[in-house]
Amino acid sequence: MNWNGKKVLVTGGASFIGSHLVDALIERGAAVRVVDNLSSGKKENLQPHLIAGRVEFHEADLLDPETAPKVVKGMEIIFHLAADHGGRGYVDLHQAACATNLALDGMLFRAAREAKVEKVVYASSGCVYPNHIQTDPSQILYLTEEMVGPPYDADNLYGWAKLMAEMTLRAYYTDWGMKSASCRYFTVYGPRGHENHAVIAMIARAFIRQDPFVVWGNGEQIRNWTHVSDIVSGTILAAEKIDDGSAVNLGTMERTRVIDAVQEVLRYSGYKPRIEFHPEMPTGPMNRVADNSLAKTLLRWEPQVKFMEGLRSTADWYFASKDRDQVSAILNSVLTERTTHPAAPQIAASSSAG
Ligand SMILES: NC(=O)c1ccc[n+]([C@@H]2O[C@H](COP(=O)([O-])OP(=O)(O)OC[C@H]3O[C@@H](n4cnc5c(N)ncnc54)[C@H](O)[C@@H]3O)[C@@H](O)[C@H]2O)c1
Repeated sequence: MNWNGKKVLVTGGASFIGSHLVDALIERGAAVRVVDNLSSGKKENLQPHLIAGRVEFHEADLLDPETAPKVVKGMEIIFHLAADHGGRGYVDLHQAACATNLALDGMLFRAAREAKVEKVVYASSGCVYPNHIQTDPSQILYLTEEMVGPPYDADNLYGWAKLMAEMTLRAYYTDWGMKSASCRYFTVYGPRGHENHAVIAMIARAFIRQDPFVVWGNGEQIRNWTHVSDIVSGTILAAEKIDDGSAVNLGTMERTRVIDAVQEVLRYSGYKPRIEFHPEMPTGPMNRVADNSLAKTLLRWEPQVKFMEGLRSTADWYFASKDRDQVSAILNSVLTERTTHPAAPQIAASSSAG
């Protein structure tokens, strides 16, 4: 696909992942419009582009029925990332808020079809996979795309909304011919990431010299943390190569235990606190790792960033850009909240993440 001059809308483009996607699209010459209500996204993530006038920015709420028809007008490709979303604590503790994504996605897809947009690329998630198959960390399990099927068992209302959006897009293609692709992102990390996701939470705890150093669960949870640069390259390839609403995993196949990531953060930051496990806190599935063979064959995509390298460079970013007092003051609340959401209820200050 020739991106030069392509009219592209990125919903949620001020977010962690969205802003990296905007960087990559601008680099390819696309004409980028962003819509974001800044509920967790930050304008500063787009600052160089805003200053240079390279991005058309609309601060608007996609839950307002008037927004989607306005912002999709004249667009050729839509990358749909806007969502009520946070890390594990948020997804477990904010069911109703995450359910609003059902309405948001439905309105956006309808407006895209009415405006005859060429293609919608959707930010789906590993949370669409059935929870009941991800319980045993000793099992060498790689989730393949077709494992999402009856009996469906998505991860909280957040996961159900992602699943419904995927299914809606497939139906739109079958019944009405609207092209689309769904990218199932797996636990994304990297610069501009939020503390409500595990990797940034660990780095933040090391940064503020937390002692005892809290880890949610028993540390045995297995994840395939995937660097944001790989997520962005896969998402753009999906836009170029998938038309029929197929869903594809974007995730590494590195199996890493939470405790191993914690140990590396502590080693790298030269810090030796006592580690305290909190099994009562939300952990999500014990064993979630993608199979990425489909992305390899369909998109010719392969993750480039090895986890331990990406972890260290992300820690470098965090340590260089944050203020210790500020992080200490907000860490307990941002672990389970979307950072700037005005309506987010605060949970007990004693809880913390890992
Ligand atoms: N971070 C991950 O590990 C991960 C994993 C799987 C999927 N995803 C998906 O990737 C996308 C981006 O996630 P992210 O991690 O960068 O964080 P994020 O939650 O900050 O991104 C969501 C963005 O949408 C905006 N937004 C929310 N509600 C809106 C509304 N009503 N109107 C307009 N804008 C709205 C937010 O301000 C934010 O910029 C989301 O769809 C998320 O579900 C992320």
